[in-house]
Amino acid sequence: MGTGIGFGKVILFNEHFVVYGLPAIASAIGAKTTALVERRSGSGVEINDERPETRGYKAEKASQQKESLDLMLNFMKVDTKNNAFRVALAGDLLAASGVGASAASCAAIARAFSDELGLNFTDERVNEVAYEGEKGYHGTPSGIDNTAATYGGLIWYKREGSLHQMERMKLKRPVEIVMGNTGLVADTKAVVGAVKVRKEKDPEKYAGIFQDADKLVNNARKQLEAFHLEEVGYYMDENHALLQQIGVSCPELDLLVDLARNNGALGAKLTGTGKGGYMVALTPGKDLQENIAKAIEKKGFQALRTTIGV
Ligand code: MEV
Repeated sequence: MGTGIGFGKVILFNEHFVVYGLPAIASAIGAKTTALVERRSGSGVEINDERPETRGYKAEKASQQKESLDLMLNFMKVDTKNNAFRVALAGDLLAASGVGASAASCAAIARAFSDELGLNFTDERVNEVAYEGEKGYHGTPSGIDNTAATYGGLIWYKREGSLHQMERMKLKRPVEIVMGNTGLVADTKAVVGAVKVRKEKDPEKYAGIFQDADKLVNNARKQLEAFHLEEVGYYMDENHALLQQIGVSCPELDLLVDLARNNGALGAKLTGTGKGGYMVALTPGKDLQENIAKAIEKKGFQALRTTIGV
């Protein structure tokens, strides 16, 4: 029996822009997905998905999950004609849009196959396999999700053509955040595809927005590393505005973002694909974190209390 893990993540700056080569910042959030692989006689692969989920997520992603697994098995050259495998997914990361659930499952599965088949994958290899798997969900992933899922921690990520660059970042100490779940399942492939269409239709407008996003993420990095949290919050707000301009927010995300800001969060934005999934609010200190989480729950949404920069 082989086992493996993948880290859940939050994107703090520049989702979507990262697909086009701009830098982005992501952090692990403590929760993980675990995979277990068992080899049996026969042929084929069966998935038992026991992860906790946002209602409807697993059913909606079932065909993409199958496509993703086939891509990874192919890439790892696993022989499923002369061997049968059972893959079981579990862990405390909710299967939901916006927390890197698909990437975490891909990294966990890559590690579990490596363990079961004695393939001795390095993290770099796990990341390559998880990237292949992400293609089943994303179409053209930037690679930030699988990189965050493989390595964990706080990362600065940039893709230049086929080159993927990751730098580890450090925070003076971990900071509390709240992630509010809209409960809506987002289709990354569709949302990323729609941004591409809009960008091609209005290149001038998008060039301006992309310039702003580039400047913003570089400023945000400096403020994060200097631990100037008020400024970091300001840049989160600004980043949300840019994401609204490229059309990836939705009324539920805007409602949760406004709610968090009105209750004292230093900043708030959608995170990940958008059009559903999660938002993230910067809420240093247990008291502020609890206030924001309660405000979100009072409106009938789920709130995840967690930290970045661990
Ligand atoms: C999804 O978690 C992040 C996106 O930027 C897509 C990607 O980077 O592949 C929306």
